[in-house]
Amino acid sequence: MGIVFHERTKEFHLYNQDISYILGVLQNGHLGQIYYGKRIHEAESFQHLIEYGIKDMAPCAFEGNRLFSMEYLRQEYPSYGRGDMRYPAYELQQTDGSRVSEFTYEGHSVLKGKKKLKGLPAVYVEDESEAETLEVFLRDDVTETKLILSYTIFKDFPVICRNALFSHEGSEPVVLKNAMSFSIDFPDADYDMVTLTGAWARERYIKAHPLHEGIQAVYSMRGHSSHQFNPFFALKKHETTEHTGEAAGFSLIYSGNFIGQVNVDTFGVARAMAGIHPEGFAWTLEKGESFQTPEAVLVYSQEGLNGMSQVFHRLYRTRLARGKWRDMERPVVINSWEAVFMDFTEDKILNIARTAKELGVEMMVLDDGWFGKRDDDTSSLGDWYPNPGKLPGGIKGLSEKIERLGMKLGLWIEPEMISRNSELYRKHPDWLIGVPYRPMCHGRNQYVLDFSKKEVVEGIGDAITAVLNGAGVSYIKWDMNRSISEAFSRNQGPKEQGKLFHKYVLGVYQLYERLRREFPDILFESCASGGARFDPGMLYYAPQCWTSDNTDAIERIRIQYGTSVVYPLSSMGCHVSAVPNHQTFRNTPLKTRADVAYFGCFGYEMDLNVLTDEEKQEIKEQIYFYKKYRRLIAEGRFYRLLSPFEGDEAAWMVVSEDKKTVLAAYYRMRQPSNAPYKRLRLKGLEEGARYCIEGREGSWFGDELMYTGMVISDYACGIRPDTTRQGDYQSRIFILKKL
Ligand code: DGJ
Repeated sequence: MGIVFHERTKEFHLYNQDISYILGVLQNGHLGQIYYGKRIHEAESFQHLIEYGIKDMAPCAFEGNRLFSMEYLRQEYPSYGRGDMRYPAYELQQTDGSRVSEFTYEGHSVLKGKKKLKGLPAVYVEDESEAETLEVFLRDDVTETKLILSYTIFKDFPVICRNALFSHEGSEPVVLKNAMSFSIDFPDADYDMVTLTGAWARERYIKAHPLHEGIQAVYSMRGHSSHQFNPFFALKKHETTEHTGEAAGFSLIYSGNFIGQVNVDTFGVARAMAGIHPEGFAWTLEKGESFQTPEAVLVYSQEGLNGMSQVFHRLYRTRLARGKWRDMERPVVINSWEAVFMDFTEDKILNIARTAKELGVEMMVLDDGWFGKRDDDTSSLGDWYPNPGKLPGGIKGLSEKIERLGMKLGLWIEPEMISRNSELYRKHPDWLIGVPYRPMCHGRNQYVLDFSKKEVVEGIGDAITAVLNGAGVSYIKWDMNRSISEAFSRNQGPKEQGKLFHKYVLGVYQLYERLRREFPDILFESCASGGARFDPGMLYYAPQCWTSDNTDAIERIRIQYGTSVVYPLSSMGCHVSAVPNHQTFRNTPLKTRADVAYFGCFGYEMDLNVLTDEEKQEIKEQIYFYKKYRRLIAEGRFYRLLSPFEGDEAAWMVVSEDKKTVLAAYYRMRQPSNAPYKRLRLKGLEEGARYCIEGREGSWFGDELMYTGMVISDYACGIRPDTTRQGDYQSRIFILKKL
């Protein structure tokens, strides 16, 4: 790993064993992009890669020179108004209304390790030797504003982390109307753009389409990262597959409004960028103030999309998630939501917990409905004290009883929200986001608290802290169930309105940070109507996230498969629920439901007391299985084998780092008639090692299992068809051990 600067050519080369990232100072002092991709040899100059061309009408920077036009140069952080007609990475407005600016190179520094981002989540290092950071200092002389572009390269990850920091020194204020976290110009546009899109209950479906001239984007303007688009996209070559070929992934560590876009010009240059969505964003900088963008993570892989995913998994699991729970085995939970919804008493919860304990469950999570007068979704959000009718001994009383059973207690909260029918609303009607003299939309009968305000974040923080202090809560599920509409911060001046969305997110991060600090032993799970805030920003505070409200096993295969494009299995909350499923009304076997949910943070979400003895026994065995393999599932290498988006079957597998233990799962959504033969080509095994497959006689070489495939047709390997496992919605788990 290294960062080299060549004084003569003013080029920087950031490299490690896998990647090279080369940029340089252009003739006009702006930063030019030269190369990003597979590691290449060091050289003093790559100036020949800076392509110029005389094009009519192009605005040129130097009189008499028709070659040098920003419109045709590949750049690192393009500005508005100095000749580049494509989308800029930032926009700065002066008090006279001018939006023209240009930041030119002043100097740079290289430091060991990686700096923290103030108030924002970011990838970190545990030791300075893990990474090096280049900071390039630029300045717009007219407005007297400084810009620092940061690039961190890691020793052991093919990753570049980028961010931008604007600091204003001029006496006249400026307004940042746009400030992307990164921008990069690729020399060609022969890529497919891969995105994760969806809706409530069908989050993060994988979509891919060839780039075309113009703009293509993913975004959120909802105040949270959203069910609709994940703050991620990848560019892969058309021929790239899951396991071969080039893929470059871009992930934004942020939980609010964002845009990730590719602007392809008519000369085939693809400009990729991501950052806070400029819609409604206007950040005034007075003298001495600064603005820090969120961090963007750029991953480059030569091993296909799956190779890219594995890098994200390892990085996010070990260098984004933090705290004691990062490396700890996650408890098997029973969640009360789909079991009883808000209709419960303490006895009902204890009854479920008692049975759960017998089956091996470790954590009883009490979901929505325990506070204020909340029996349905029309009231009490904001009233964070236990309902004495439901919990006579309060949270502490319940946790003591749960602990006596030998389990831990988890609790649901939704701190960012308020019901109009609540004591909090009666006391602080002005704490809501919304224009006071206009009607307001509700979402699920609730309103959003203005977390851009310090007193609101502190007030809610005090209330939640009071509930948790000494209450014996070991796990928090932090929910967020509506988007922000009528974005307006009450009693604040016009300048503050352009800051609302971002300050809201900063407020959420502040409260998370406070609760993590005050309760370091609590395991946090984030949630937003299922997976509407499944993003890297949240992972910094909560190492796991409720993946989706859709707990139907068949739907979950797609959701978890898509989520795995960026996020590690250790971050996905996955529960077995009752049938017919609450969202799809589908009946799936208990085995299939568990076979899908194992590949995440496992649990149940059903009334265990209504099950038959056989079902309880099956669950007991499932929990035993999960506990045996949960570390492998959380920390092993994950391979996607068969895509549920391409047919009626799916498969994936996890291999331990030492390649000794393997779990491979095969799911069949629809039973074909007179089924053809089937082999699964495994991945990541040791070629020359012999593996046995549990339940089968014999052993097989790793290369055989990877290249000829593991035969999984019935009658193969002496396996007779199991007649109870025929039909739709079936699954099989294969356990392989190296001999
Ligand atoms: C939405 C979550 O995704 C569910 O799991 C559940 O916690 C409900 N909210 C409770 O209101």
